[in-house]
Amino acid sequence: MNQSILHIKDLRVSFNQHKDKMNAVTDVSLQIDKGQTVALIGESGSGKSITSLSVLKLLPSNGKIEKGTITFNGKDLIQQSETNMRKIRGNEISMIFQDAIASLNPNMKVGVQITEGLKYHKLVPKSDLKQEALQLLEQVGFKNPSHVYSQYPSQLSGGMKQRILIAMAISCKPQLIIADEPTTSLDVTIQRQVLDLIDQYKTDRDASVLLITHDFGVVAEYADWVYVMLGGHIVESADVFTIFKNPVHPYTKALIGSIPNPENGQERLKSIKDYTFENVGYEGRRFAPETYSYESKAFNAPSSLFEVEPLHYVRFFNEREVISLG
Ligand SMILES: Nc1ncnc2c1ncn2[C@@H]1O[C@H](COP(=O)(O)OP(=O)(O)OP(=O)(O)O)[C@@H](O)[C@H]1O
Ligand SMILES: [Mg+2]
Repeated sequence: MNQSILHIKDLRVSFNQHKDKMNAVTDVSLQIDKGQTVALIGESGSGKSITSLSVLKLLPSNGKIEKGTITFNGKDLIQQSETNMRKIRGNEISMIFQDAIASLNPNMKVGVQITEGLKYHKLVPKSDLKQEALQLLEQVGFKNPSHVYSQYPSQLSGGMKQRILIAMAISCKPQLIIADEPTTSLDVTIQRQVLDLIDQYKTDRDASVLLITHDFGVVAEYADWVYVMLGGHIVESADVFTIFKNPVHPYTKALIGSIPNPENGQERLKSIKDYTFENVGYEGRRFAPETYSYESKAFNAPSSLFEVEPLHYVRFFNEREVISLG
């Protein structure tokens, strides 16, 4: 039996904006086992970042967790105090934020920046911080750690900065790394190097990774398990082999069909707007996205996950409403 490290159950997150309330994440459940990489994939605005920010309780100030539990190593994070969350963030769970490169401090040497977490969590004596930083720089592939230690972010390329972020993320040896589109702005070769580093860390320490991505090619290569998000809902989940062999939801099929292929020049994955959903898709059940509204960015009707084969779940409009295929 695999050991679950993170279990999000029935998470609902809402935002207040101009007196309106809207659900950005609705009834999301997701599980990550020790040693696993779990991918969360979906189009822009589907709720990937909001789901992951909920884990660390770092939602924007107008966002609220309405419902659900987020169990990490047996504790419900939603119930933890801010003091406890500070002990967990960066130490037990680290996050590589979307667009984090922009958050590197331009006025601080990168070598010093990567030891901030170690210093904050008092994991090594002050006198050892530099040595630790040099080791981390080496670990993330820098051949000349002492030179890089003294550089400022502006002196580094995008790929190098991303490696600095990984050094920061792994510095305290977390059990879970959440990587929110860590490679979006990088070219393909550098992307692989960055993802390989995260993967290597996971393997070395039997840690776990929540990998947020737009790219099913990345999923194929790095993930053990996949959750597909659409309009704030999980619409399909399964192990990576099953999802490629037998994608059921039309949106998953569309995503897999849009894996970037340099030969046909298609670079971006299709968005839901480019895709016409089937009316009847699987054993007479209708899929939820029929009821997806762009205006309200929400599903207007109840929908439910259905186990189409063992441990392979797909969301339908209403499983009780069986439509004749005749
Ligand atoms: N501060 C906020 N106020 C109101 N709505 C927000 C806020 N932050 C996010 N949202 C909304 O929540 C929804 C989910 O956003 P989220 O950032 O999780 O999307 P995402 O899947 O990470 O997209 P991307 O791939 O572009 O990063 C979107 O509809 C977004 O507009
Ligand atoms: Mg995002």
